[in-house]
Amino acid sequence: MLNTDTAPGPGTSGDALRERIAAELLAARERTAALTGCVEEPDLVAQHSPLMSPLVWDLAHIGNQEELWLLRNVGGRDPLHPEIDPLYDAFEHPRAERPSLPLLPPAEARAYTHEVRGRVLDLLETTALDGTGLLRGGFAFGMIAQHEQQHDETMLITHQLRHGPPVLADPPPAPAPGDAAALPAEVLIPAGDFTMGAAGEPWALDNERPAHLVHVPAFFLDTVPVTNGAYQRFIADGGYDDPRWWTAEGWQHRQRAGLTAPLFWSRDGATWLRRRFGTTEPVPADEPVVHVSWYEADAYARWAGRRLPTEAEWEKAARHDPATGRTRRYPWGDADPTPAHANLGQRHLRPAPAGSYPAGASAYGARQLMGDVWEWTGSDFTPYPGFRAWPYREYSEVFFGSDHKVLRGGSFAVAPVVGRATFRNWDYPVRRQIFAGFRTARDAEPRPGRTAAGAA
Ligand code: AVJ
Ligand code: FE
Repeated sequence: MLNTDTAPGPGTSGDALRERIAAELLAARERTAALTGCVEEPDLVAQHSPLMSPLVWDLAHIGNQEELWLLRNVGGRDPLHPEIDPLYDAFEHPRAERPSLPLLPPAEARAYTHEVRGRVLDLLETTALDGTGLLRGGFAFGMIAQHEQQHDETMLITHQLRHGPPVLADPPPAPAPGDAAALPAEVLIPAGDFTMGAAGEPWALDNERPAHLVHVPAFFLDTVPVTNGAYQRFIADGGYDDPRWWTAEGWQHRQRAGLTAPLFWSRDGATWLRRRFGTTEPVPADEPVVHVSWYEADAYARWAGRRLPTEAEWEKAARHDPATGRTRRYPWGDADPTPAHANLGQRHLRPAPAGSYPAGASAYGARQLMGDVWEWTGSDFTPYPGFRAWPYREYSEVFFGSDHKVLRGGSFAVAPVVGRATFRNWDYPVRRQIFAGFRTARDAEPRPGRTAAGAA
């Protein structure tokens, strides 16, 4: 019996849902406008890293996906500029090759996304949202609002990679002081079943479905994400020079890429510095570490005598309520996130100190599972039993397999409309430009066939 069906969601139909959709589309567009309006034209068309698209590509791609899904598929309208479709198809052109395409210049990209949006708002007024398929619960509109916010995070990553003076206003650090030292280092999640995946979440994406029962053996999970201070001890202890802590693939990568510290870190004598959105500053010891690859996270965990949590362990720690047996929407319960619960929505341009957000703790007492940093898990990105691609194979299905590792929880750059506790992100294990950190786990009871660190 799945028990999240009564959770408050984006609503069912009618004016309230229409208003929610319009508000989410507007919030995404304001963020897009801020991220593309704070630099001059040369910075919009330049490629700041071969890992990323020019910002002006993201901008027109946002409009093109909105046109495809809402105006054409839902609204049945003719294409506005069919000749540009191939330019903005992510599968036709890898990121490295996008700057050499005949992209729409910034003014035209803005005009195009603006024109699409105007027509979408008209369509929203006249479209029944109580139907099935793409429109059920306003899904297609919700998917597009989430798509734009995901590209906004991508554009924020591009800003972090960009060289030059800061252009983004750096709001004050997250207010809640961390009290990680006063918290137990780890929480125990006893053995038992829990319901994993999305049920009754009309805007959940295909890879979050279907909800299904999973048995999770007892394990311990770090109460908070691994901090910069703890990570510095790994570095100081020679963690980057000791192949014992690394998988064979990870060690090979560490050698070839010359990894010695997280991306954006540099050393000034005994002090670690980091570059953050154009500013160089001392690395704060109490913040979750960010910009590490899966290989580095995995090596740290083995050095600490621990391992990365599996995806199921992460989700159980985040959502299961042992008192009622229910699976919650969020670690703290079913209520939508507020600034007291989690560091989401780019309110801060950095993670909050470990131990912040007591109101956002999970039923087991783990903190900051949502927001701050994406958390690498030990799991490959694979479909849940009963998965069906929806509405297109290229959202998730083509990425399933052992090439990608799953990240959970969301970073400070994740919008609340995306920041569900069921949301699954994925990337290659070498990637570290993303806002990714991790926390570690260990078995709570001996398991046959496993070493103490949990390696197979
Ligand atoms: C879920 C973040 C891996 O950016 O590649 C954006 C999201 N999909 N446009 C990505 C996405 C299509 C996706 N991630
Ligand atoms: Fe996209």
